[in-house]
Amino acid sequence: MAYNNIIVETQGAVGLIRLNRPKALNALCQELTEEMTVALDAFEANDDIGAIVITGSDKAFAAGADIKEMQSKTYMDVYKNDFITATWERVARCRKPVIAAVAGYALGGGCELAMMCDFILAADNAQFGQPEIKLGTIPGAGGTQRLTRFVGKSKAMEMCLTGRMMDAEEAERSGLVSRIVPLDDLEDEALKVAAKIADLSRPVVMMCKESVNKAYETTLKEGIMFERRVFHSTFATEDQKEGMAAFAEKRSAAFKHQ
Ligand code: HXC
Repeated sequence: MAYNNIIVETQGAVGLIRLNRPKALNALCQELTEEMTVALDAFEANDDIGAIVITGSDKAFAAGADIKEMQSKTYMDVYKNDFITATWERVARCRKPVIAAVAGYALGGGCELAMMCDFILAADNAQFGQPEIKLGTIPGAGGTQRLTRFVGKSKAMEMCLTGRMMDAEEAERSGLVSRIVPLDDLEDEALKVAAKIADLSRPVVMMCKESVNKAYETTLKEGIMFERRVFHSTFATEDQKEGMAAFAEKRSAAFKHQ
């Protein structure tokens, strides 16, 4: 399919989605989000893909939902269409691992999109923020919820109430991003990590992702029980047999993804 707002590539077993509206700092218009949904569906359906990277440009991951597209919408427009989360949640629903490689601005919906991914690698020039309050609205794609879970109430509240930005150092210190890498290395590093994950057992990677995500959605007791059951079920895979045999035989594992 031909895309107007994103560039989609595959590199080995990794699917790469590059947000590509440079003139609007990758503002997330409706068409862009729909294209991202189509690209994610295709990667999910493709057995040769084991991990996905979403990135933007050096200047902007995404400067938010498209303000010019939103400005004239009425309450009925947004309520009836469940604007805009219904489409966006596709990223959070992805079963394969998704890495956000963030350089430059990740603001509003851009920050929310990054937080829907499984982890965020940040370039040293990354800036995160939820500036919606300055536009007379609030985050609408999980910002008040996910940011609070990442960085705690005090910092999330300050960021959402003032709209101030957080640089890469502060984002790493607060647990929003997993690591900072130099801007020039960001994409290579993200692709390298994604390729490493894609080499592992794909069903077990999905099980692991589901288990970590459970920590955000349930009590500790329930989460631990969920983890144990999933741990048990890895013993039904051929890949667990292969992984442990390879260790015992001092060789690399050759996972068959089953
Ligand atoms: C539409 C945007 C945009 C956005 C930037 N542009 N952000 N267009 N929606 N979110 C456009 C500008 O209008 C401008 O187009 C061009 O991109 C370059 O932007 P500048 O402002 O000239 O660049 P700069 O001076 O470098 O400032 C960068 C910036 C600023 C600090 C990131 O652009 C900015 O504050 N953007 C808005 C950030 C924001 O408020 N995001 C939250 C959106 S609300 P022209 O044509 O003038 O050259 C949101 C709600 C989500 O995300 C709700 C759930 C989905």
